[in-house]
Amino acid sequence: MNDFLAPERVPDPCVLVIFGASGDLTRRKLLPAVWHLSRQGRLPDAFALVGVARTQMSTEEFRRRLRESLNEFVQLGEADAQRVDDFLERVDYVSGDPADDETYDQLRKKLSSIDERLGTSSNRCYYCSVPPQVFLDIVRQLGNTGLAAEDDGWVRIIVEKPFGHDLESARSLNRSLHLVFREHQIFRIDHYLGKETVQNILVFRLANSMFEPLWNRRYVDHVQITAAESVGVEHRAGYYDTSGALRDMIQNHLMQVMCVVAMEPPSTFDAESVRVEKLKVLKAVRPFSVGKVDQIAVRAQYEDGEDADGKPCPGYLQEEDVPAGSRTETFAAVEFTIDNWRWQGVPFYVRTGKRMARRTSTITLQFKQPPHLIFSGGDNLRPSTLTIRIQPEEGISLAFSGKRPGPDVQLDTVDMDFCYADHFGGRSPEAYETLILDCLIGDGTLFASSDWIEKSWGLLMPILEAWSAASATQMPSYPAGSWGPTEARALFDRDWRSWEEAVAE
Ligand SMILES: NC(=O)c1ccc[n+]([C@@H]2O[C@H](COP(=O)([O-])OP(=O)(O)OC[C@H]3O[C@@H](n4cnc5c(N)ncnc54)[C@H](OP(=O)(O)O)[C@@H]3O)[C@@H](O)[C@H]2O)c1
Repeated sequence: MNDFLAPERVPDPCVLVIFGASGDLTRRKLLPAVWHLSRQGRLPDAFALVGVARTQMSTEEFRRRLRESLNEFVQLGEADAQRVDDFLERVDYVSGDPADDETYDQLRKKLSSIDERLGTSSNRCYYCSVPPQVFLDIVRQLGNTGLAAEDDGWVRIIVEKPFGHDLESARSLNRSLHLVFREHQIFRIDHYLGKETVQNILVFRLANSMFEPLWNRRYVDHVQITAAESVGVEHRAGYYDTSGALRDMIQNHLMQVMCVVAMEPPSTFDAESVRVEKLKVLKAVRPFSVGKVDQIAVRAQYEDGEDADGKPCPGYLQEEDVPAGSRTETFAAVEFTIDNWRWQGVPFYVRTGKRMARRTSTITLQFKQPPHLIFSGGDNLRPSTLTIRIQPEEGISLAFSGKRPGPDVQLDTVDMDFCYADHFGGRSPEAYETLILDCLIGDGTLFASSDWIEKSWGLLMPILEAWSAASATQMPSYPAGSWGPTEARALFDRDWRSWEEAVAE
């Protein structure tokens, strides 16, 4: 083994305050993430979690609910019983409306008593796990009541997605945040960036000298970034119908991934250097014009169909809570052109959809064909590809040409595969674990900056405007359980490329 292990980082003593602690995200993701951090000894001894929500309940009742969540979402061993008790001892609850002063009076008292009891040194991390319209109430009230002041310790805030609905609302949210917090205190969470394989893109590129020389327009034909979900809108139609695939997935997760793939190597791996390089990518993206959106973007809605097991699935318009006649897209594909020396002429195709054939998130770099093929029968040769699997089965595959065994020179495509689970074994940390830990440490490398957010919304506005103006026209559709609308192929056909069906196989 030749491991290069950085020293383990442990945060300062602190309190994590979760607003919206009675909600789905806390139950399914945040609490299990904090538990795992605690279980692995990644939290300081002086640590406490305080939940805040309007639901009236005692701390005991809150702890009981959290215990249920752990039983449901975490694999607990027999030896964990005492640890769960100890963990829940550090959990408190404040019931109150995030808009009311009274809530913050109670919270202040609770935090002071925790500081005294546990020595959490007035260090606070506030997590806004509430619907987006409540973010501003929390920020304003933390400012008004002095709970955002860094008089005796540090204060940070985590803001969940969606960060804005369009450029104007994102700007307005940034302005409001900056009235109370400085940029280094704000952690705009994008759980995709906490995924192991997304972080591994930079390690793969920059800790090996053999890939980076190929990572440019001389060798790469095009890049495909796919995030396909097999599920429909599930219980989140109320939110999803106001958002759609472009806002929900492309503006944040997939454009972040594109930036990590396309960015120049930063001189150091720290928040400022990485953020600067990611922003430079967006600045180099060729702006879209409203009149030409049809040439670079496709949207569609799923209609009824069958999932991979042959089970019938309703169309989007038949899903519970979806308004009749909704024109919200459940599939979106966009071709980005990056006007810089590294990527000139290399399209980045980004697509996402619900109720697709299979759940898969991948990044594929398709390499150029050799300039001259000396082997007969090579016309049908598949180009070499490098595929980074974000989920499921996190890993990296390289597909390239090889000779079939035998007396004739016959070419075939072969794969070299690296699978995280096979190699490293054990459990990969959930994205929220990594991101919460980073925030408690104060490392903003994996979080979106205000200028990145505004630039990404700015780039997508012509598409949103064109789609909104075209709402009276027919929305393309695709059968549930398929790989999306035929219209999406037109994006590729124009360039004589095809969607990487390898992900579909
Ligand atoms: N759930 C997910 O999988 C997921 C994934 C990605 C991002 N997110 C984002 O994470 C955040 C939380 O998600 P969630 O699914 O947990 O949301 P949620 O269940 O709808 O809401 C969380 C909590 O916020 C409180 N709340 C709701 N409406 C409120 C209002 N008008 N004023 C004050 N408090 C209100 C509710 O608690 P009380 O009624 O007790 O106050 C609720 O339990 C959202 O921004 C969401 O977009 C969620």
